[in-house]
Amino acid sequence: MAQKVLEINGLTTGFLAEKEIVKATDRVNLQLEKGKTLCLVGESGSGKSVTSLAIMRLIEFSGGRILEGSIAFQKQDLAKKTQEEMLHIRGNKIAMIFQDPMTALNPVFTVGEQIAESLRLHQGMKKEKAWTEAIKLLRLVGIPSPELRVKQYPHELSGGMCQRVVIAIALACRPDVLIADEPTTALDVTVQAQILDLLRSLQKEIGMSILLITHDMGVAAEMADRIAVMYAGAIVEEGDATAIFDKPSHPYTTGLLQSIPGLEGERGHELYTIAGTIPPLSALPSGCRFHPRCPHVMDKCRAVSPPSMTVGDRHTSACWLYEEGERA
Ligand SMILES: Nc1ncnc2c1ncn2[C@@H]1O[C@H](COP(=O)(O)OP(=O)(O)OP(=O)(O)O)[C@@H](O)[C@H]1O
Ligand SMILES: [Mg+2]
Repeated sequence: MAQKVLEINGLTTGFLAEKEIVKATDRVNLQLEKGKTLCLVGESGSGKSVTSLAIMRLIEFSGGRILEGSIAFQKQDLAKKTQEEMLHIRGNKIAMIFQDPMTALNPVFTVGEQIAESLRLHQGMKKEKAWTEAIKLLRLVGIPSPELRVKQYPHELSGGMCQRVVIAIALACRPDVLIADEPTTALDVTVQAQILDLLRSLQKEIGMSILLITHDMGVAAEMADRIAVMYAGAIVEEGDATAIFDKPSHPYTTGLLQSIPGLEGERGHELYTIAGTIPPLSALPSGCRFHPRCPHVMDKCRAVSPPSMTVGDRHTSACWLYEEGERA
C-alpha cells in the first residue's frame, strides 16, 4: 500500500450560528497517498470546501472551527498547530488553488512579482534568482513566451492562463500536497481539459499528492486514484476510482453517477437528478442523513445512522444495505 501523506481522522467542524454551533462536517476520515489523487465529490453544500479549509486551518478565518479530530501530516497534527506554525506549512508544504483564478491573483502586481514573492517568502530566494525561477515556473505550467508574460498583469491574461499562474505559485515551493478546490469550474471546457492534463503531468514530475475537490464526476473519472463521496457533511462512500465507477455501493453515489451528462452532442438527453435536496446541516434527518432521498429506504434507515461498512477491497459504504458486510 502506498505511503500516506495526509491522514484525517474524525474531523468534525462547525460554524457558530445564533449562539449555536452548526456542524459543517461530521467525523470525516480521509487518507491521501503519496503521488496519488484523491477526489472529494458531492453536491453543493456537502462540506467539501470546509474540509479543505480545515486542513489548511483557514476555517478559523471564515468564522468556523475544528471541533474534533486530527489531521496527520508528516508526523504532526495540523489540527493542533498554532496559526504561526501553519505559516510554515501553508503555501510551502501544502499548497492550495481555488476555483476563481482572478480572485487568487493580486491585480496590482505582475505575475512575475507574485511568483517571485512566494519564492522569497518561503524559500528565502534573492530577488534576481526568484525572477529567473518565476520564468522557469511559467514555462513549466505551459505558458508560452514566459519572458514576456512574467512582466504582465493578471488582467492581460486569459482565465486559463491565470489559473496556470496560480498553479505556478502553488508549485513554486514543490509542495507535498496540492489541494485544488474546483480548479476548473470557472473555465471553459477545452481549457478545463488542458488544466487537468497540466495537473496530471506536474504531479508525475514533482511526485506530489493531490486532493481534488469537484462536484463533477466526469472530472473525478479522469483524475482520481481514490474517490471519497461526501453527503451533508459526512463521507458516505470511499474506494478506488475504478470500484466507485464500476460498483458504486451507496445509493447517493449511484445517483451522482446517473447525473453525469450524456455524451457530447447527445442533446435532449434528460439529465437524471437525485430527487429532493441536501438538508441543512442544522436540521439533519434522524437515522441515515440520506434516507429522505433514498430509493432503497428501509425502516432502520429512518432510525439509526449507518456506520461505514466494508463492501470490497479498501472500499467502504455507510449504508444499511451492506449490513452483512464487515464494519469498517
Ligand atoms: N463561513 C461560513 N459560515 C457559516 N456556514 C458556512 C460557512 N462556510 C460554509 N458553511 C456551511 O458549511 C456547509 C458546507 O459548505 P461547503 O462550502 O464546504 O460546501 P461545498 O461542498 O464546498 O459546496 P460547493 O460545491 O457549493 O462548493 C454548508 O452548509 C455551508 O452553509
Ligand atoms: Mg466548495
